[in-house]
Amino acid sequence: MVKLEGFPVEVTLRDGRSVVLRPMTAADGGRLLEFFRALPEEDRQFLKEDVTRQEVVERFVRELDYERVFPLLAEHGGTIVGDATLHRTKYGWSTHVAAIRMVVARPFQRSGLGTALARHLVRHAVNVGVDKMIAEVVDNQIGARRAFAKLGFYEEAVLKGQVKDRQGIRRDLVIMANDVSHLWEAMEALVADYSPTVGE
Ligand SMILES: CC(C)(COP(=O)(O)OP(=O)(O)OC[C@H]1O[C@@H](n2cnc3c(N)ncnc32)[C@H](O)[C@@H]1OP(=O)(O)O)[C@@H](O)C(=O)NCCC(=O)NCCS
Repeated sequence: MVKLEGFPVEVTLRDGRSVVLRPMTAADGGRLLEFFRALPEEDRQFLKEDVTRQEVVERFVRELDYERVFPLLAEHGGTIVGDATLHRTKYGWSTHVAAIRMVVARPFQRSGLGTALARHLVRHAVNVGVDKMIAEVVDNQIGARRAFAKLGFYEEAVLKGQVKDRQGIRRDLVIMANDVSHLWEAMEALVADYSPTVGE
């Protein structure tokens, strides 16, 4: 059984808006699809699945398994405004590693929501015994690279030409990583001087 300590949690963003962070449940399918469909193509072009397709989101709901993928949603006034997921494997040589993916609705970007989602996912990762986290970003996703760097991830590897963008141009995939203990320290320091208030 996955421990779900500390959720739901209410977070006040830098601009004063309040959001609730909570794990996704089977009842969230419709609203999650709306969230994905409202994202600009630029923000979802490198997601690994076509999340604008109903059957893809229905599969997320059907296969909901917090030990494999832990989806943390940000909700504001009944609307989903952010989604961050922690991906793990249950078997094999990398069960201590988890990958983080996140996307925040445009009107909520640069308000500290990505930082809050990542911080709570790192805390969850600590609780479930993950040692190391990775994030995959494409070389021209400058905002995402800065966001992860600020959270304490460093650039650990580059896979040359691994990704093709919408124009068919090959791009490098940057693997950003760090041990969870270091990430936790970096995020605590960030939250201390950043201060959107994080209610717990
Ligand atoms: C990456 C993402 C989730 C960050 O969410 P966010 O809510 O804007 O993050 P925060 O407000 O906590 O920003 C954290 C830091 O990231 C950096 N950052 C975020 N967006 C940026 C941008 N567009 N340009 C430059 N720096 C950016 C800044 O340093 C920012 O801190 P600051 O606002 O105090 O300067 C969001 O930009 C997004 O959804 N992007 C599209 C999807 C994506 O690329 N996901 C990552 C791959 S998994």
